[in-house]
Amino acid sequence: MKRALLCVTLLACASDPGEVTTTAVQRGERLVSDPGFAESKFNAYACTTCHAIADARGRLLPGAPLAGAARRPSFWGGRFTTLNEAVNECATKFMRAEPLDPAAKKWVDLWAYLQSIGEQGPRDAWPFETVYRITDLPRGDAGRGRATWDAACKGCHGAANTGEGVLGPASVVPRETLEEHGKEGGSIVRQVVVEKARHGSYLGFPGVMPPFSKQVLSDEQLADVLTYLGLHELK
Ligand code: HEC
Ligand code: HEC
Repeated sequence: MKRALLCVTLLACASDPGEVTTTAVQRGERLVSDPGFAESKFNAYACTTCHAIADARGRLLPGAPLAGAARRPSFWGGRFTTLNEAVNECATKFMRAEPLDPAAKKWVDLWAYLQSIGEQGPRDAWPFETVYRITDLPRGDAGRGRATWDAACKGCHGAANTGEGVLGPASVVPRETLEEHGKEGGSIVRQVVVEKARHGSYLGFPGVMPPFSKQVLSDEQLADVLTYLGLHELK
């Protein structure tokens, strides 16, 4: 039975010229680092923009490591119970992609790859707690804030204030935030940044920014970022 299934898969590959020599696992591995995963020309992200494969190497990434995910009992802090739903949330919410049908070749490839790294990462449900109540945060440390900005925000927003190295549609922070909210005062500007970092494009916000959980980014770290951005100088 296993052998029969394998033949069917191989035949399917052979009918697709140029892909005869790759396996589903290899194609899936390529998919996770390819912004072309989503057909939309508006998408700039790969899965690996927000997820480490196994080791985040010091980056503060909003998504859990992909290694181990196939073995976890639930996803997105318990919101979903199937891997397909968990991935489709990312595909449709952040990448402007169509949801993947569990029978689609792209899903089968991705699934095969995630299965192949299923034993290589954390297998317990990954903690993902949303901060709902948004408050102004006290002054932190600018030096630590810079390091946190580089690890959590720079990958999309580029350099603070100039936006040099920006990815896709990310805004220039805090310049554009100040243009829009500067007149409302320092406390409001800081809360806009906190709100965006905590909720991304959820809770009624448009766009494709991911939310950062308590576990990925603490309030202290976020306070440091606000100080680094010069937002505690604002009255
Ligand atoms: C813009 C950022 C972003 C992109 C791009 C993205 N994800 Fe996610 N992903 C998240 C966030 C945030 C979560 C929720 C936190 C969590 O549970 O990992 C999440 C959750 C997940 C989960 C559930 C993990 C768990 O243990 O809860 C899987 C699996 C996943 N994503 C796979 C993918 C795949 C595959 C792609 C590419 C097709 C992708 N993601 C693209 C941000 C992103
Ligand atoms: C995966 C990419 C990504 C990451 C990582 C990211 N952002 Fe964003 N951010 C965006 C995008 C894209 C926008 C534009 C609006 C949207 O699409 O949600 C945005 C918008 C914003 C805004 C609103 C700016 C305005 O127009 O007033 C703020 C503030 C912000 N981000 C702060 C942060 C901070 C702070 C971090 C790090 C903790 C961060 N972002 C990490 C993608 C990202």
